[in-house]
Amino acid sequence: MRKIIITSALPYANGPLHIGHILEGVQTDIWARFQNIKGNQCWYFCADDAHGTPIMLKAAEQNQDPEKFIKPIREQHIKDFSKFNIEFSNYHTTHSKENRELANTIFKKLEENGDISSKTIQQAFDQVKNIFLPDRYVQGICPKCNTKEQHGDSCENCGATYSPLEMKDPISILSQTIPITKESEHLFFKLNNYQKILIEWLKTHSLQPEVKNKLLEWFKNDLRDWDISRDHPYFGFEIPNHPNKYFYVWLDAPIGYLASILNYTAQTSELDFDEIWNKNSDYEVYHFIGKDIIYFHALFWPAILTASNYRTPTSIFAHGFLTINGNKMSKSRGNFIAAKQYLDHLDPEHLRYYFAAKLSNTVEDIDFNLNDYMLRVNADLVGKFVNIASRCSGFLAKHFENKLANKLHNEELFNIVSGKSEQIATLYENREFSKAIRIICECADLTNQYIDQNKPWQLIKQKDISLVQDICTMGVNLFRLLTIYLKPIIPMMAISIENFLNISSLTWADIKSPLLSHTINKFTPLTKRIEESQLIKLQEHNMEQDKPKIENEHITIEDFSKVELRIAKIVSASHIEGADLLLKLELDVGEEKLRQVFAGIKKTYDPKDIEGRLTILVANLKPRKMRFGISEGMVLMACNKENVYMLSPDSGAVPGMLVK
Ligand code: MSP
Ligand code: ZN
Repeated sequence: MRKIIITSALPYANGPLHIGHILEGVQTDIWARFQNIKGNQCWYFCADDAHGTPIMLKAAEQNQDPEKFIKPIREQHIKDFSKFNIEFSNYHTTHSKENRELANTIFKKLEENGDISSKTIQQAFDQVKNIFLPDRYVQGICPKCNTKEQHGDSCENCGATYSPLEMKDPISILSQTIPITKESEHLFFKLNNYQKILIEWLKTHSLQPEVKNKLLEWFKNDLRDWDISRDHPYFGFEIPNHPNKYFYVWLDAPIGYLASILNYTAQTSELDFDEIWNKNSDYEVYHFIGKDIIYFHALFWPAILTASNYRTPTSIFAHGFLTINGNKMSKSRGNFIAAKQYLDHLDPEHLRYYFAAKLSNTVEDIDFNLNDYMLRVNADLVGKFVNIASRCSGFLAKHFENKLANKLHNEELFNIVSGKSEQIATLYENREFSKAIRIICECADLTNQYIDQNKPWQLIKQKDISLVQDICTMGVNLFRLLTIYLKPIIPMMAISIENFLNISSLTWADIKSPLLSHTINKFTPLTKRIEESQLIKLQEHNMEQDKPKIENEHITIEDFSKVELRIAKIVSASHIEGADLLLKLELDVGEEKLRQVFAGIKKTYDPKDIEGRLTILVANLKPRKMRFGISEGMVLMACNKENVYMLSPDSGAVPGMLVK
């Protein structure tokens, strides 16, 4: 029996989880569940990543103490994960006493080793807010290609990387003032001391080719010292004997893995912290992460662990990014889906299934295509898998008091399906979930074909109905095998199926033995098909909730003049099938063609009451494709939480007139 410790990356405690976080949780959770069902022991740890400047500023924005601010966020994260049946052994926080102690001990060890140096560096400083600015908080003109409004670390246009001090016309996004350059002494981890050890680690640990290649690329040059300190004000742990200096969030974040485990081991005797983390440990340790944070996990983390006398991870498993309908997830583009928002409209196990059907062991991005998702779940999970149980259970209930026959009608077919178990297990082990699902679906096809060929609905009309019992028993047994195969992916449905089959918790070891001469329970529907209207509601929700918030206190007149406001006449207004919030409007804006706009005003306005009215349209908003068509602008409304109020110009205004 293997003993395995796994983690997924610690989400920042600065806002709710989105379904990209859920993708990572689902991948990790499926793997953990598979290991446990297979008879290994696997513990899954995570925590909130609570430190850093963005969290500190967000708390300040809400006039809150950061320690208070992060608490409800962690609670919400735990809730969202659990609704998706992502089950942790422990979910801690990096702002904890365990993490402080571990970070201090590790830092002390680094100092003793001579791995820490101090250097004075120049940094952008905001004199209004009195704070050193992280690179992302400075905007300016790219020093290489002169593109405006670039972040202080890299240019989106030409890809150049630089320091904010090299930018032209830099501006602090916190105060909109020009930052000054200020000196400060920082502490550095001498990463290069560990180059040889890292190369050895790379050679002896089996890593994904993408991770390996990145590491090799970094090794081409000497590894640069890593700045691990930040100046006051900062939300984090103050560094012992270095007053007003704090550990950089990325130093104590991975230590948060250890802290979560330490916090757990203090409460249970099933695990021992030192047994896991000593250099001769017989535990396997894996970190599941997104491809954006390979740098921190494959380079700094093994070096820090080695430097402080801990064992290193067995491997690191990086995945790609979730996109939505082919686009990067982004609030301002309106294709951002918070975990809670998904849960309001759709079934969490459907998303687990869909993610599994797309996940591989590469860092390729994964697209959440809403149409494809609906088709896949309806065709495979409902149409192929659940259908088997509903096809067989009716006959068993009606004619055989739910009793299964005492033999397998087609042993060969049972052996074919159970014979796939090793192949499927290997695919799970290698995180090739999409390939595993393909084979499971093929087995479901074989099962449905078997039922089709044997036609129990015809046999039942004939004399020898015991054959119907045999066939349905066979169907139920194949369904049971498929349930074992799918159990890591759809754990809640698997529990309902175990209740239906009247059996205890299924494991991989149950594959070999069929279920015969056994009374099952009444079948109740296991899941519902996804309806188009649910997807419409999800997108409506999106449109309502996620208007981008203006982060800065002021905009310039140039910013405002980018917005083209025009008087529009509502020529027609109508309902959209399946939509709860939106009305479809056709607007005369003085152009040849009418504009089609979807507006979230259905709760307040009856279509026929607003036809003929004049109102104000944001006319140059980028058109947006929705399930029911393209929206070519946005109608302005006054609004509070309950209501919206349409704006109308005084008499004399005509369609197309500019509002300025
Ligand atoms: N706090 C750090 C991780 C510290 S680990 C010691 C962090 N937090 S995060 O909230 O930005 O991201 C958490 C995880 O979610 C990361 O692995 C990240 O790659 C992943 N994802 C964030 N957005 C994602 C998608 N759109 N798609 C898939 N995964 C994504 O990074
Ligand atoms: Zn550039």
